[in-house]
Amino acid sequence: MNIPFVDLKAQYNQIKQEIDAKISEVVSNTDFIMGQNVASFEKEFAQFCGARFCSGVSSGTSALYLALKAAGIRQGDEVITAANTFIATTEAISQTGAKIKLVDCDPETYTINPTEVEKAITSKTKAILPVHLYGQCANIKALKEIADKHHLLIIEDAAQAHGAEHHGKRVPIADIACFSFYPGKNLGAYGDAGAVVTNNEKIAELVNAYRNHGRLPGEKYEHSLEGYNERIDALQTAILSIKLKYLDSWNSMRRKNAALYNKLLADVKGIVTPIESSFNKHIYHLYVIRILNKNREEIMEILKKQGIATQIHYPIPLHQQRAYKHLNIPEGTFPISEQYAKQILSLPMYPEMTEEQIHYVCEKFL
Ligand SMILES: Cc1ncc(COP(=O)(O)O)c(C=O)c1O
Repeated sequence: MNIPFVDLKAQYNQIKQEIDAKISEVVSNTDFIMGQNVASFEKEFAQFCGARFCSGVSSGTSALYLALKAAGIRQGDEVITAANTFIATTEAISQTGAKIKLVDCDPETYTINPTEVEKAITSKTKAILPVHLYGQCANIKALKEIADKHHLLIIEDAAQAHGAEHHGKRVPIADIACFSFYPGKNLGAYGDAGAVVTNNEKIAELVNAYRNHGRLPGEKYEHSLEGYNERIDALQTAILSIKLKYLDSWNSMRRKNAALYNKLLADVKGIVTPIESSFNKHIYHLYVIRILNKNREEIMEILKKQGIATQIHYPIPLHQQRAYKHLNIPEGTFPISEQYAKQILSLPMYPEMTEEQIHYVCEKFL
């Protein structure tokens, strides 16, 4: 059996007719930049998230950068985030000129540890940037108490969390959420795309302006601000509007697949399956286990030989990346992130996976 890590073709085949017709419509209308498709998708996605405003941008990375910029983060400020995330999270902080403050993760959920966040706050801290890692929300309730006490903003990296819930509320839980629509995400475009979602009108207005050369509503060749070209593609929003209709059912299918994985792997010694907090609804962008006493790379090789694709998210914690040597953070500073980076393994996960495929993967661990 051949089991890819994700199967985007299986998803496309289900909705091919709708997608092909829509692409053809956008191309024949030559509606390429902004316009009705962008406006409709933004309205629909804001509604899906239970928020007032959505600004479509060119990627998840630009969503993070533009959100931080709109929140006024700049040189001299500090932003706290997790050591165990993808580099896009911290690239966005650096791009504003602010300083990255990394902290360790919670040993159960692998999301940022609120106790460590509070310890890292200084007089320069302006924001907390929790990552809803693998599709499970960080403990925003605990973070919000800390943020309120210290007058900080919470900007959620929701690149992996479209539709994830925390205490019964969908992301965004706090102030601003930044989504990625990278093709393999739970809601994926056919290229790069992203969005900033918020209830804060001022932030939404600023992101809308910054993404489009600083233009405020009604401006064309008049610029009150200097901005960027970070608009979302209209063609991508047309595709995303179609896919959004299926997102709840796709997320349910992912949850069902995760439940089957959990059941089949429950009694396997030396494997830790993901823990979903009682107050969270995990949407399993990734299904990540930990291998305790065996050589992970050997296991990956064995699985590969049997047609099963796996990945590691992420093999090197950020403070140990060469790009962040200048942060001078010694080994041992974030023991959980460091230990888990050596143990984690992402198994194939996509809505269309069959029970037979999941059984086939799990048998290899028995
Ligand atoms: C946690 C996290 N943050 C940010 C990003 C950046 O998103 P994009 O690839 O759309 O720029 C990603 C996507 O890979 C991600 O997984």
